[in-house]
Amino acid sequence: MPARVVLGAQWGDEGKGKAIDQLAPNSQWAVRFQGGNNAGHTIVAGGTTLKMHLLPSGITARDCNLVLGCGMVVDPWVLDRELSEWAELTGESPEGKRLFISERAAVILPFHRLYDSADELVGTTGRGIGPAYRDRTERVGLRFVDIGLILGRDTEIAEISERMNAQLSTVGIEEKIEPEQLKSDLSWIHQRFSEAIRATGPMLDKALARGEQVLLEGAQGAMLDIDQGTYPFVTSSITCRANATHGAGIHPGHIDQCYGITKAYTTRVGNGPFPTELSLEDGPGKQMSVVGHEFGTTTGRPRRTGWLDAVALNESQRLNGYTGLVVTKLDVLGGLEELKICTSYNLDGDEIDHVPSSSEELARCTPVYESHPGFPALDEEEWIEMAEESRKGGGIDSLPSPIRSYLSRIEEITGVPVVSVGVGPDRLASVASAGGPFDVEMSEATF
Ligand code: GDP
Ligand code: IMO
Ligand code: MG
Repeated sequence: MPARVVLGAQWGDEGKGKAIDQLAPNSQWAVRFQGGNNAGHTIVAGGTTLKMHLLPSGITARDCNLVLGCGMVVDPWVLDRELSEWAELTGESPEGKRLFISERAAVILPFHRLYDSADELVGTTGRGIGPAYRDRTERVGLRFVDIGLILGRDTEIAEISERMNAQLSTVGIEEKIEPEQLKSDLSWIHQRFSEAIRATGPMLDKALARGEQVLLEGAQGAMLDIDQGTYPFVTSSITCRANATHGAGIHPGHIDQCYGITKAYTTRVGNGPFPTELSLEDGPGKQMSVVGHEFGTTTGRPRRTGWLDAVALNESQRLNGYTGLVVTKLDVLGGLEELKICTSYNLDGDEIDHVPSSSEELARCTPVYESHPGFPALDEEEWIEMAEESRKGGGIDSLPSPIRSYLSRIEEITGVPVVSVGVGPDRLASVASAGGPFDVEMSEATF
């Protein structure tokens, strides 16, 4: 069986967690391949809301094995906390049994968090992501496989703490990393996770050879990609399909399906240009924020909101070659008289159809919109009823006509079929295309 990929098609928080939760029951593996606990992936099922930062969202399917892949940066303390929360909720401790951490994944240490706290430009999540990737690129960072090896080497540990302290002082941070503390941290990580640390690339390769289905779970979104996003207002990893297999330690030929998750509008959290941004104080921008509960899952910061940016969406399609789009949070737009889609930008008097490479230029872009009729607001129960109705046959075709034409226009602009539409946070609040990849049986499961 091949591998499938789920990716954020915008600036993150598109609803990847919900999509993974829906696909996980038919997958034997769910793998995170980049990023760390800057991610916040929400799953709502059976009255319970789960917020995953490191654990793959496929954890909800008990038969699904979980991997934190080699492309990740992993904060062991956050992982420990998330595992405790999961154990409290379900009684299960999956580490070493169905949860495995790549030996090659980079370790986030307190130093990285401290260093990240000095960021003033990007508006990072402050979780140490950029500094941990920087250490990896400089080839001085520790990977999980290195920890056991370094524990007996006090001189090396002292040198590492010296380097960390020198770096902290360059950004005006007085706090020091003491070598004894660093050694005791490393020793705790070694003892806590040694059961789960594995060569996960070969594990996945063998699983694929046995015909098992692998689900690759993206974090962040295409516009936050270090190479292809709105640099420097991006995260520090490659968030796109090209890295999905590499960050899992398998080859790209395994991928056969790639789903791009996009909201029916746009949000962004943190700094950086956002051409279709609206005011959070009133009008449609306020509705998106209030009805959509647009607050960061990781940091709680208000998300900025705006109309659907199809220029950015097409850019992400160019990078990822989606085989299907999942359009989420359509319900949030209910009751607006007019919906807008940005189909090109105006940059200094010229109309352009791509995202400029320079964020300064992107900040000067004004959106060129087309207008679409709105549709009535429904409450959560009514949307779920509509979703249930759609499962009896018809799928997306059974939706009311203004919704269908909004979705058809997205398909026309991107050239990608819409395979599922989100009409509420709950796992059952989705309308899937009949016979498509998201046309799956979902229970109201409790955990
Ligand atoms: P992720 O990072 O891509 O997994 O997305 P987040 O979990 O950070 O943010 C998505 C938010 O929207 C979460 O609060 C979800 O529960 C919620 N959500 C997902 N799909 C829908 C939908 O179709 N409608 C509504 N109203 N909420 C949704
Ligand atoms: P999920 O997986 C939304 C943003 C931060 C900041 C920039 C860099 O839940 O979609 P970082 O801490 O990564 O160095 O911050 O990227 N950012 C996200 N925005 N969703 C995310 O993850 C994000 N992860 C990072 O707000 O602007
Ligand atoms: Mg999120």
